[in-house]
Amino acid sequence: MKKVYIETYGCQMNEYDTEIVKTILAGHQFGFTEVPEEAEVIFLNTCSVRENAHQKVQNRIANLKHLKRRNKKLIMGVLGCMAQNLRDELLGDNVGVDIIAGPDSYKKLPELIRHVEDSGEKDFALTLSEFETYSDVFPRAEAGINAWVAVMRGCDNFCTFCVVPYTRGRERSRDPFNVQDEVRQLAGQGFKQVTLLGQNVNSYRSGEYDFGRLMKLVSEVDGIERIRFTSPHPKDFPENLLQEMAGNPKICKHIHLPLQAGNDRVLQVMNRTYTRREFENLAAHIRQLIPGVVLTTDIIVGFPGETDAEFEETLQVIRELQFDSAFMFKYSERKQTIASRKYPDDVPEQVKSERLDRLIELQRLISLLKNEAHIGQKFKVLVEGPGRKTGQVIGRTDGNKAVAFFSDKLLPGDFAEVAIQAASANTLMGELL
Ligand code: SAH
Ligand code: SF4
Ligand code: F3S
Repeated sequence: MKKVYIETYGCQMNEYDTEIVKTILAGHQFGFTEVPEEAEVIFLNTCSVRENAHQKVQNRIANLKHLKRRNKKLIMGVLGCMAQNLRDELLGDNVGVDIIAGPDSYKKLPELIRHVEDSGEKDFALTLSEFETYSDVFPRAEAGINAWVAVMRGCDNFCTFCVVPYTRGRERSRDPFNVQDEVRQLAGQGFKQVTLLGQNVNSYRSGEYDFGRLMKLVSEVDGIERIRFTSPHPKDFPENLLQEMAGNPKICKHIHLPLQAGNDRVLQVMNRTYTRREFENLAAHIRQLIPGVVLTTDIIVGFPGETDAEFEETLQVIRELQFDSAFMFKYSERKQTIASRKYPDDVPEQVKSERLDRLIELQRLISLLKNEAHIGQKFKVLVEGPGRKTGQVIGRTDGNKAVAFFSDKLLPGDFAEVAIQAASANTLMGELL
């Protein structure tokens, strides 16, 4: 049995895809190892979304290349979004990479490995598919509390900064009953929570089933107690989806609602398809329909042409909307994107850094205040594992906030009632009731 070692970078979809890759390879008599030194095949499942994600993988490839000196037969492969995006660079002479396979080509991996072994040549598979959903591969989920389930793949939005439509291809959705079967199997394995995944998850559509109806179908599976989803786009929150979220106790009351920027001109050149006012109205509507909902967001600072005044508007919206937390990034120009072709990356690095620092500081304060407002409240917490201090466990609220508390009995997968006693910007501290 050949041993394969896989490292995963990037988003949850890549985590899930790594499980798919393992399932496919296991079906062809491959085994797995957690140690690169023991492996005969090394795969890096990569991300292209920002330059630093890139850089990390490039360094890692250079680093792992040394192992080839000890084991001349070692095969190294790059999977995922970078493979799709950087084919020529990666297959260069001294890079050390033998195989590259894009996100829709994982069923070809056994064949690619065999070909490289037999011929000693490099090989690649990068065709993006309009159909591939891996519906027929139910991956072996890593043991734990949460299991990922990709329900749709690809993105047709073409936000001008984003490489994902090029690396993941067009949108396609799985059959809802096939998704339900996979969730049923996961429940049978003891998973209590599933997170439905898609690059644009709430634009899911299969026949009569939109995302709201899909979530209802998934919630009918016995044993699954919590359903999460990521990442949605603000343009796809029809009333029936919000009503389903509000009324269905299994659907977690947390929405990640990526804003990206607060100024209308910037939003327009980003091709986000909403204005500041429309986004604010949506957030207000969600909060009215789903009391206590946790809202989180993504922000990009320093998009081409962003002025100081336009950035100030992002700060204003952040102050006004009071997200529970946010992922915040400096604009990073990506090859192939519309922005890289049309809008020069003209905000100086130092200005980007200053804007990011100010934004992070502001959001940190808001997150702290939001968390402090939970002191004295009670939450149902799903235990995930041990906490930092001995005797402590960490779990999550329905709104996805981490809670640390002391307990010597509770195990991962147990539910507990916890009263919040203290808070930081990232964590709640509580007492078991
Ligand atoms: N499908 C997801 C996006 C995945 S990328 C969605 O639409 O929410 C996650 C986040 O990375 C995006 O929301 C955006 O804030 C950020 N991002 C994407 N491309 C970027 C780029 N070129 N530079 C900086 N941040 C970027
Ligand atoms: Fe990228 Fe926009 Fe698609 Fe999200 S919605 S993956 S940011 S193009
Ligand atoms: Fe990265 Fe591709 Fe996911 S670019 S964020 S791994 S979709």
